[in-house]
Amino acid sequence: MMERIRFDFGNLMASNVDGGVDASVLAGLLADRFKDAHGSVMARREQGDLGFLDLPYASDTASRVSELADGFAQWFEDVVVLGIGGSGLGAIALKEALLGPFWNAMSDEERDHFPRLHVIDNPDPHTFSRLLDRLEPGRTLFNVVSKSGATAETMAQYLVARAWIEAGVEEEKARGHFLFTTDPASGVLRQIGDAEDVLMLPVPPNVGGRFSVLSPVGLFPAAVCGAALDELLAGAADMEQRCQTDHLTENPAGMLATLLHQADVTSGRPIHVLMPYVDRLRPVALWFQQLWAESLGKSVLVTGEEHHTGPTPLAALGARDQHSLLQLLMEGPHDKIVLFVDVDDPGVDMEIPPRHPGIPALAYLGGHSMGHLLATERAATAEALRREGRPNATLHLPRIGAGELGQLLMLFQIATVYAGAMYGIDPLDQPGVELSKRLTYGLMGREGSEIPEMPEHDARYVL
Ligand code: PA5
Repeated sequence: MMERIRFDFGNLMASNVDGGVDASVLAGLLADRFKDAHGSVMARREQGDLGFLDLPYASDTASRVSELADGFAQWFEDVVVLGIGGSGLGAIALKEALLGPFWNAMSDEERDHFPRLHVIDNPDPHTFSRLLDRLEPGRTLFNVVSKSGATAETMAQYLVARAWIEAGVEEEKARGHFLFTTDPASGVLRQIGDAEDVLMLPVPPNVGGRFSVLSPVGLFPAAVCGAALDELLAGAADMEQRCQTDHLTENPAGMLATLLHQADVTSGRPIHVLMPYVDRLRPVALWFQQLWAESLGKSVLVTGEEHHTGPTPLAALGARDQHSLLQLLMEGPHDKIVLFVDVDDPGVDMEIPPRHPGIPALAYLGGHSMGHLLATERAATAEALRREGRPNATLHLPRIGAGELGQLLMLFQIATVYAGAMYGIDPLDQPGVELSKRLTYGLMGREGSEIPEMPEHDARYVL
């Protein structure tokens, strides 16, 4: 049974923390600003730009994904997802949250005979060759994920994987070891798939990479390992419905976007730290990092002048990063806000056995559980930050079920488009990544690309 996630933003309010938001400002100026942002997001939805909001209701797609996943799960022992950025991070987030740690090291029985899942989101030859050395071509499926169907890193991995499969299985069977997830009509991956009769799943044209986690991009890898898609999508739908109101105090994504935007533009806190206190959500923090950065880091013209906007997201993990970042968060510049993620029921817990009763530094731990220690450290850290005048907030998940995860992922995506409206930028594009792609094409000799002139290395500046 899915329970709703809760957003506790008390430690961002002036009544609790120095420099926090005044309740009257929240009820007045910020509530009005949110109404405008909500209106412009709804207008974009009407125009058909925000396809991610409709994904929880795409039941035909979910059925097709489940059907393919069920078949593939019976044939293959290893599924390798090839995809980068929005085409890889969502699958990693779902894998870790829903399948838990060490999935690939578990026995067939422990995995209920579902395949191992590898998401390779970087074309590092060391990683890829070591993985291939461990796989059996005849029992391996590659899910090649690219919305554009032309991303250099993913296509390079595909070409290597294709040759590896062809060297290891009968020629006519090779195409059966691939599933392409790509645009339904355009792109070279679609062309290859059509020409070679490779099975394919669609990424809706109005769903961009970093908003695609609930499309077949994330759904197939999750489903092939047995994740409950209906619960995931029901959770996302529930959040989508909670966020249909333009009343700020009732809209969790609106509140999140409003407070983070306010922290940046008014309180001089452009660094937004997302810090879950559970290992399984660490990849969600990395997924959020991309979502927030690529969507909101933009240059805009305001009355003819170029302005640069965008908070800097930072993925952290509690309690580990209390021993890495916390010193900076407590005493460094007042330029950060911390968003914790806490899980009420960790699912698995371990009692800490009492031992060494005569050593107070250890004796107090005995009789508690490790889950309780983590939760206590989160609460203590939030309070320590508050006492130092460091605003923070907490997202509470009742548990890490598919439904709760669906809510969380939808919450962040809706908050991102609201924040885009507040910053006055388009959160759906990423023009800033094009130049390095063009230079790469030129340097790699892609036909039709200009070979770029690169500055000589100046020996004076190389040690
Ligand atoms: O969020 C985005 O749009 C990007 O991070 C893309 O997902 C990434 O560049 C990969 O693109 P593609 O799916 O076209 O290979």
